[in-house]
Amino acid sequence: MRILITGASGNLGAYLLRHFRSSEHEVVAWSGGWRGELFGVGVEPVELTDARAVARAFDRATPDAVIHAAAVSAIDACHGNPERAMAVNASAAGWLLTLAAGRRFVQVSTDLVFSGDKGDYRESEQAEPLSVYGRSKRAAEPAVTACWFAQSLVVRLGLLYGPSLTGRPNFFDRTVLALAAGRPLTLFDDEWRNPLGLAAAAAALAGIATSDFVPFREIHHARILHVAGPERLSRYELGCRIAAVRGLPTGSLVRGSRVDHLAPEPRPRDTTLNCSRWRQLFPHHDWPSVEAGLEAMGAGRP
Ligand SMILES: NC(=O)c1ccc[n+]([C@@H]2O[C@H](COP(=O)([O-])OP(=O)(O)OC[C@H]3O[C@@H](n4cnc5c(N)ncnc54)[C@H](OP(=O)(O)O)[C@@H]3O)[C@@H](O)[C@H]2O)c1
Repeated sequence: MRILITGASGNLGAYLLRHFRSSEHEVVAWSGGWRGELFGVGVEPVELTDARAVARAFDRATPDAVIHAAAVSAIDACHGNPERAMAVNASAAGWLLTLAAGRRFVQVSTDLVFSGDKGDYRESEQAEPLSVYGRSKRAAEPAVTACWFAQSLVVRLGLLYGPSLTGRPNFFDRTVLALAAGRPLTLFDDEWRNPLGLAAAAAALAGIATSDFVPFREIHHARILHVAGPERLSRYELGCRIAAVRGLPTGSLVRGSRVDHLAPEPRPRDTTLNCSRWRQLFPHHDWPSVEAGLEAMGAGRP
């Protein structure tokens, strides 16, 4: 198969490129502005808000399947520019979906489409996002689940962790640096998600996109899959797990509360995803604990 990966220069995209490197599939990789080569694949900048540029690049790409991972993913950036968040995260997904007529289309979404009131969310439950980011990601979903001309599917991911492969430090890298330097780092202990390693998330997306499984053809919420880790953890607990695996002291970790945090938008309490449907359909997909996930990514004790 020939697979188009958008957001290939991002945290997840780089792990997707690395995953496909050792597969039989061919990959076409797009970024927003980043230009270069990752894992032997040339990454081409394609601005997703430029419909003509997207159409031209899509014609050149001629993919059999699309994994649409590109997004304005920073919550603050989305809050600061809601129009751009909507244009990149929602409208562009609609254009790409139209171009993907007759092909497979996997829309990467997020647990932050949920309000966080209850946790353990199933695919069929009402999504009521609290942030601009969550609303823009949610806005992309209905077209994907209702589309009749593409074999389309929404995959909602939990919080992702693991070392950056692109040189741009992410949450994991910043946590390790702070722990190693003994620099105080406040992490919420009252906000829960079920984190999944970036490598496992990439492998799951690749497996889903290249499989012949039924939900590509089912209707509405049946065309959503929840993919996240096996453990319900707060950011603080995740920080402690990372410290333990790296053999670093946790003395500089400070317990924080999302309630006391002065943020422009409310933060959801518990957006853990119920992954039983994914596990039932793909029992062979890797589903690592944080410790196993970090070891598998070579991110254990240096
Ligand atoms: N990270 C998480 O914990 C998490 C959890 C759940 C779901 N997700 C979802 O997973 C996906 C990947 O997240 P990530 O953490 O890998 O994000 P990321 O590191 O911020 O990467 C975003 C990617 O999107 C590209 N992009 C941004 N704006 C664009 C535009 N206007 N046109 C074209 N490309 C654009 C970026 O290109 P440049 O590098 O050139 O800017 C980059 O390749 C997103 O859909 C996100 O919503 C992430």
